[in-house]
Amino acid sequence: MSTLVVVGAQWGDEGKGKVTDVLAASVDVVVRYQGGPNAGHTLVVKGEKYKLHQVPAGILHGKECVIGNGVVLDPKTFLEELEGLRKRGVPVDRIHLSHAAHVIFPYHQRLDELEEERRGSQRLGTTGRGIGPAYSDKVARMGIRVADLLRPETLKAKLSRNLEQLNHLLEHVYGVEGYRLEDLLELYTGYGEALRPFVTDTAQFLNKAIAQGARVLFEGAQGTMLDLDHGTYPYVTSSYPTAGGACLGSGVGPTRIDAAMGVAKAYTSRVGDGPFPTELKDEIGDYIREKGGEYGTTTGRPRRIGWLDTVVLRHSKLVSGLTSLALNHLDTLTGLHPVKIAVGYRIRGEVWESLPLHMEDLFEAEPIYEELEGWAEMPSALSSFEDLPPQAQRYVKRVEELSGLPVSMVSVGPGREATLVRFDPFAAAPATR
Ligand code: IMP
Repeated sequence: MSTLVVVGAQWGDEGKGKVTDVLAASVDVVVRYQGGPNAGHTLVVKGEKYKLHQVPAGILHGKECVIGNGVVLDPKTFLEELEGLRKRGVPVDRIHLSHAAHVIFPYHQRLDELEEERRGSQRLGTTGRGIGPAYSDKVARMGIRVADLLRPETLKAKLSRNLEQLNHLLEHVYGVEGYRLEDLLELYTGYGEALRPFVTDTAQFLNKAIAQGARVLFEGAQGTMLDLDHGTYPYVTSSYPTAGGACLGSGVGPTRIDAAMGVAKAYTSRVGDGPFPTELKDEIGDYIREKGGEYGTTTGRPRRIGWLDTVVLRHSKLVSGLTSLALNHLDTLTGLHPVKIAVGYRIRGEVWESLPLHMEDLFEAEPIYEELEGWAEMPSALSSFEDLPPQAQRYVKRVEELSGLPVSMVSVGPGREATLVRFDPFAAAPATR
């Protein structure tokens, strides 16, 4: 078994970067397959704190890192990230950037803001990084790809065509100033030159590596419930975080994927607007937010907090074909009693164990909770499952039963010693679980 997709099993921020960090030592290649600078990982390696938005966390372990065709790249922030890594002595020559990834322009960010303003109370709460507008251009077949930045004449032709339409929209619909072709052309031709050494056909690179037996980890950004098709549409991002997105966004076919691991926290969080059935708007929510440091890496926004929702986990298992689950932040629930897990919803008197057909019904879904005994203390390092307090062990086992997923990894803190790998998530789950 040599390929694993790591997928957020909730609304993002489940700690995928940390899981990748733990697994990175045993892999050869780490791949980002969707999203852009809307994602963010904070990693602590050898006491140094790193904030990464577009570069896969594997770079800190000297692994080959691929930014696939499914990503939307902001060259400015990407190059700044590279500079930051270089300054701290992290070699960046193992980064491979797909020629077919789409490029974010300043007008995408501007449109992101303007569209959010226009939505008013129906806003999505986007990260404001231009993600939706950049993917819209891609789907409308007017996107500009990384390869285009390497050819000024192609870039000029595409950009001038786009600006004609875009400036009309900005000036006549939104009543704001448009963009000048010369300014963007100069800036992005410069970016193209800086990116050139990294640009390659990453589908070729990856398929060759897999054929040669490399262990490859596909690291999803965001999470299942933010997936454009399988999430709480329209309160979603504009890409495909679910496991199928790894194939589309990297050019590696589904027959080459061995396993998919969902990553969840022992509770739920969400940034941005949209339905969240188990949301806690009380002091328990505040307790978890403070204890878990639940503030956005990209925007600094306080995250919305709720109890663990196994309807969401079952949905994630279903749409990504998950083979195991990593359960993070178990320590954050320490001191709470009882702890609750949602097993279903009641919507206008009807019981649902899966998501309703009408997304808007989720706004009025009342979670059906099961209560479990809490635990008062948690060790800071784990060497076996039995190190967990018995109540926490029962909690994990109950999550396994309700989600239908064996828990391959459990973590009780940010450091690597706080993560227990119960079985290799690249492999199929042991039959005994
Ligand atoms: P966008 O991706 O900026 O368009 O934002 C769409 C939705 O996805 C908003 O609710 C964002 O808060 C959410 N979102 C985007 N990226 C992340 C992430 O990395 N973690 C959690 N939520 C995210």
